[in-house]
Formats: sequence, C-alpha cells, structure tokens
Amino acid sequence: MTGQGMFLTLEGCEGVGKTTNANLIESILQENDVSYIRTREPGGTPLAESLRNMLLEKRDEQVHPLAEALMVFAARAQHVNHVIRPALKKGQWVLCDRFTDASFAYQGGGRGVSVSVLEQLEEMVHGDLQPNLTLYLDMPVELALSRIQSRELDRFEVEKKLFFENVRNAYLLRASGQARFRIIDASQSLDDVQQDIRDCLSEFMSKANMA
Ligand code: TMP
Repeated sequence: MTGQGMFLTLEGCEGVGKTTNANLIESILQENDVSYIRTREPGGTPLAESLRNMLLEKRDEQVHPLAEALMVFAARAQHVNHVIRPALKKGQWVLCDRFTDASFAYQGGGRGVSVSVLEQLEEMVHGDLQPNLTLYLDMPVELALSRIQSRELDRFEVEKKLFFENVRNAYLLRASGQARFRIIDASQSLDDVQQDIRDCLSEFMSKANMA
C-alpha cells in the first residue's frame, strides 16, 4: 500500500506491555499491507544504540539530569535524521517504541528537567516533526512495577515508586494537551487492551484513507 508515511509512537512506563502491543500494531500494519519500519528509542541506529546502553547501564557515578536529557536527544538526532525522516520521505510508516514524550515523562517528570529546556531540545532536534498518532499505555504504577520484578532491572527500572508516579503524571499531562494522543487503559485484560488498540488504529487508518 502506498501513500504518505505516518509516524506512530507507543509510550508508557515499564511493565505496561509495550513490546506485546508493538507486536500487535506491527501485525495490524501487515494485515493492511502498509510498508513500515519498526524502531525504538533510545536507539534505532548503531550510535544511538550505544548511547542507549550508556543510558541504561547502572553506574556508581550519579548521572546529571541535564546530561541524561542531552544523551537521549543526541541519540534522537541521529535516529530522526538517519532513520525516521528517510523512511517517512519514502512513504513508509514508522512504528517507534518511545519518542520525545518519553523525555518529557522521564527527564521532565522523573528527573525534574524543566519543560522549557526540553522544549528547546525538541525544537532543535525535530522542530517540524511530530508523531501523527501516539498510543499511551496507562496503568497504575504499582501494577506496572509488580510486572517487572522478575527481570534484571536497568538504571531506570531500579527507581522508586515516586519516580514512576511522576513519570506517569507527566505522560498524562502531555496526553491531555495533544490531539494525537490516545490513552489506552493497559490494566484491562490483554484482549480488551488489544481491542482498544485495534479500534484506535482502524479509526486512524480510515482517516488516513487506508482502511
Ligand atoms: P524501554 O526498553 O522500556 O523503552 O527502555 C528505555 C528506557 O529509557 C526507559 O526506562 C525510558 C527511558 N527513556 C528516557 O528516559 N527518555 C527518553 O527520551 C526515552 C526515549 C527513553
């Protein structure tokens, strides 16, 4: 299927089921013969994946919130210019597991970097590019955290409940202000979550003349 490339992002705290639901979105795109790429942030290019490893690695040195924000945006500059823009330009859809909303949630809500600093970085790195649709998977923090306890935790996942409450509140605040967001109640049964995602995608694709 040809046409204009659309930029879809998937957001949410750890434990909400992003990977399972990214797999579902991918299969919906395939069912509809959409040409697409699937990618993620931080990451998506070799350099950006190296920055991801540096960001997630637990370390003794405290990472300054501004240093963390600059690293996620450095990875993003590489990813946007070498992967996302070229794909959209070719008419491909881009399914990205996290994007700049995660910076407002984690570096802003979680670490306390000011919204104005994050807005300046956003403007510098991709001022003219925003997702066309963002699915935010929402779930109470306690439930989400209980679902990651059996994993080996990275530098973000070891944070306390309050950090994730702040991340969730920042996501919800951002979601309430922008029409491209759909909030999915990820605490429902997997079948119900996936039906909601199917409904959102179907509405979006029919608007994009794709269904
Ligand atoms: P993930 O595999 O769940 O996507 O893990 C990536 C981690 O990186 C997650 O804890 C959120 C964090 N992150 C940020 O802090 N800022 C960002 O801008 C992005 C994209 C991710």
